[in-house]
Amino acid sequence: MIRSAYLAAEGYEQPLLEELGRKGVEVQAWHGRLALSESEPVQAAWSLDTWTAPEEHAAPSVKSAADTLRGIQRNWAAYAAAHHRRTALIQGRLPPVKARPLRFPEPAPTAHLGAWTLLAPDRLLLSRSKTSPFPNGECRFEEDRSGPPSRAYLKLWEAFTLMDAWPRPGDTCIDLGAAPGGWTWALARLGTSVTTVDKAPLDPRIAAMPGVTCLQESAFGLDPHPVDWLVCDVVAYPARLLELTRRWTESGLAARIVCTVKFQGETDHEAAAAFAAIPGGSLRHLFHNKHELTFDFVSPC
Ligand SMILES: C[S@@+](CC[C@H](N)C(=O)[O-])C[C@H]1O[C@@H](n2cnc3c(N)ncnc32)[C@H](O)[C@@H]1O
Repeated sequence: MIRSAYLAAEGYEQPLLEELGRKGVEVQAWHGRLALSESEPVQAAWSLDTWTAPEEHAAPSVKSAADTLRGIQRNWAAYAAAHHRRTALIQGRLPPVKARPLRFPEPAPTAHLGAWTLLAPDRLLLSRSKTSPFPNGECRFEEDRSGPPSRAYLKLWEAFTLMDAWPRPGDTCIDLGAAPGGWTWALARLGTSVTTVDKAPLDPRIAAMPGVTCLQESAFGLDPHPVDWLVCDVVAYPARLLELTRRWTESGLAARIVCTVKFQGETDHEAAAAFAAIPGGSLRHLFHNKHELTFDFVSPC
């Protein structure tokens, strides 16, 4: 009996499988990017969306599958790993679920959303509950294609949206590893005061934005000091970043933190587990993350 299912982002099935293995969760089968397990659900950073209450149902016809889903609740997101045409026919019989891109800063949808897939043409797997408020964990935004110097700002927007918190006008922010300035652009646009710290220079357009102050130095030399938001996208070994992050969390001086933990080659699960264990913190693979995880933290002080 399937008791939990974990959806990996495209190309990141392996780190999810490794993480689940370390947590004692055996994967019985993969259905596309969905890892099916007989174990109770666990928190898994590499899962974009975890199905926390899977149920299998016979679905001899398109109508019976749609009736089963409609009989349970209104809102469903389909994950189509196979049987695409049949999935589309079932979906066509379900109430539409609004999935337009968010216009940041806008809260994530709050409507209860379940997930379903066809394991076989006549076998439905559904879950009334799941961890992501977005269909298949895909948090999409209306993008700004002219302002920011890169698309990296989408990671920060997604982290803020999932935290349901973002900087307010007048907040103080430190942006470590800021160049060329995508995150700085996102912070400055919110009306904050941003100090950027990078060994490389920022895009001059971003450096000239109101509220932006640039320090051209190493992020590792900066001592913690009071700040509303510390954000960090420095390319560094996870263990080194862990040290830096702990200095800030333990100081109690940063009210909130968002930090990308980047991996090169093998995934450092040990460091990831240490990040996840920081009190007040959480770690997840965002839809806009590559081979990296995003740590967020709210200070209890
Ligand atoms: C992925 S980029 C950051 C992208 C940025 N968040 C944006 O949105 O444009 C990583 C940055 O980390 C910086 N970096 C690497 N080591 C650093 C260090 N010790 N101190 C400060 N910045 C560092 C690099 O210079 C690079 O600009």
